[in-house]
Order: sequence, then structure tokens, then C-alpha cells
Amino acid sequence: MAVNMKGKDIISIHDLSREEIDQILDTAQILKMKKKLGEIYHPLKDKTLGMIFQKSSTRTRVSFEVGMWQLGGYALFLSANDMQLKRGETIADTARNLSRYLDGIMIRTYSHQDVIDLAECSSVPVINGLTDLLHPCQVLSDLFTVKEKRQRLEGLKLAYIGDGNNMAHSLMFGGAKMGMHIVICSPSGFEPDSEITRLSRIDAAQTGANIEIVDDPVQAVQSTDIIYTDVWTSMGMEEEQEERLKTFSQYQVNSSLLEQAGEDVLVMHCLPAHRGEEITDEVIDGPRSIVFDQAENRLHTQKAILALII
Ligand code: CP
Ligand code: NVA
Repeated sequence: MAVNMKGKDIISIHDLSREEIDQILDTAQILKMKKKLGEIYHPLKDKTLGMIFQKSSTRTRVSFEVGMWQLGGYALFLSANDMQLKRGETIADTARNLSRYLDGIMIRTYSHQDVIDLAECSSVPVINGLTDLLHPCQVLSDLFTVKEKRQRLEGLKLAYIGDGNNMAHSLMFGGAKMGMHIVICSPSGFEPDSEITRLSRIDAAQTGANIEIVDDPVQAVQSTDIIYTDVWTSMGMEEEQEERLKTFSQYQVNSSLLEQAGEDVLVMHCLPAHRGEEITDEVIDGPRSIVFDQAENRLHTQKAILALII
């Protein structure tokens, strides 16, 4: 039985039910198939998506823009620097105005609260395209990619090596909802947010998942199905880069760490990668890496989200 998601905001995976996540993944699979078969599918004819960016983007911008176009709609790129937001117009008034023109809003910004405020004052659905706290579209797409490769999610183990950042948080929420064991391995002081940990453990208790926080990468990757990593310095933290390079030096995903995991381990990264820092060329370009499949699947999964909520 399909769940009606029309008008739903996509702000955090924690807000989605397992049925809704399954529906997004199933729809993504259908849309990916349609695209590969060259089938035209325009459920969003005459619909528009505004995309507000306060931070840089390659994958999110292009996959949302192309996705809207492939669904028969239109996407507008709105650089926050060129909007009145930059000159002090509030998020709330921006939402009230944009809702009069658009059928959906995607926003990439710093403060997670800004996305919540935008959604509260918007009469059209709002999609979180990344905040300092969460990156739900990336992880929904990653769940799709893992399912595509392994035909299941429940019971799989994913070891995330690196900063307890927006990616770690969304992986915890996504894994917890879908019954995956998530091990977050971060240096002391860079562990995930305690409230996200608490909430994901509540979800995990419902699905039989485990959410573990450790600090030893070798221990973390034992009998894991997936090794995941992300940059050590996220957008907005550039002034900490030098210090972080030192702190995270033992947290690199390289061939010797891979040897500690099973032969069929999958290596994932949301990209962009800082090659030679959190991941080596040998690993990201090696046979275990599925990073470019992940990047492609942003398109199919976000098309599913758009078609379901607009
Ligand atoms: N993974 C991801 O969100 O990439 P962009 O920053 O290029 O959008
Ligand atoms: N943690 C990274 C993810 C980029 C997609 C950042 O926030 O910069």
C-alpha cells in the first residue's frame, strides 16, 4: 500500500517512517529503470523547484536540476549571495514569498534551524540539501546504492571512519531506521552529536540495529560490509583544517585498513573526496569502491523524492 507523501518536507531521515523510506527506494529503482530504458516520464510537468545554495555544490545542484528536468519540471538555482537573504530578509519571509512561485524548495545551508524555519513558513515542501547537522538526501541515496549492491539493508554493518559530522549523523539515522549496524569511528572530541546518537538509538531499538561509537579504525572495520568515509574538514570549518589534518591522520581509509575487513567489503564516500587525506587514490579508484555509483544514484533517488512529495 503506497504511503501518501505529497507535501512532506524532507529535513531529517529521523522524521521518515520505514515505509516512507522503502517507498523512496522502490520509486528510485523504478525511475532508474525508466531512465535506462529511455522512457519519458513527466509527472512534474509545469512544476518548479527553487534551489537555495549558501554553500558550494557539484552533485546536489546538478542532480536536482537534471532530475527536475527529466521529470518534466523546471529548477531554478538561487545563490543565497544574490538573494535578499544576504541583505537581511528573514528566512521566514523568504519562505512565504517563494511559496507563491514555486512547488518545492531545496536548500543547502549552514544552520539546521534555518531549514526548519523555512519549512515552517513555507506552504510548499522543503528538502534539506545539506546542513551542518544532516545530509538526508545523500544517505537516502546511499541506502538505495547499498540495497542495489547487496539486495538488502537489514543486518548489514557499515563502519564510518572519520569526523562525527553531518554525514555520520544521517548515516546513523538512516541505518537505525533500516536495521543496519552503524559503527562511527572518530577521534576523541570529534564524535557525533549526543542528541543525534540518543535519537538514532531510539530508532535502532525498533529495528534491531546497533549504533556504536568507537575510536579505533582497525576494530571498527572488523567483519564490516561497508567502509564509509567523508572529508575531515567540512564546508564552513576551513579555519580548522591544519589542526584536523593532524588529529585525523590515523583515520585514513587506505589499503592496509581495507585488509582488515573482508574481501567483499564495499567502500563508500559521499564526495567530494580529499584524496590523500581521508582516502587514498588506491582505495577510491580500486575494485571495492562504489563512489561513482553513489554519485549517480543521487539523481535517481532525488527524482523519487521529488515525484513523491511535489
Ligand atoms: N555529496 C554531495 O552532496 O556533493 P556536493 O557537495 O557536490 O553537492
Ligand atoms: N561533510 C561534508 C559533506 C559534503 C557533501 C561537508 O559538509 O562539507
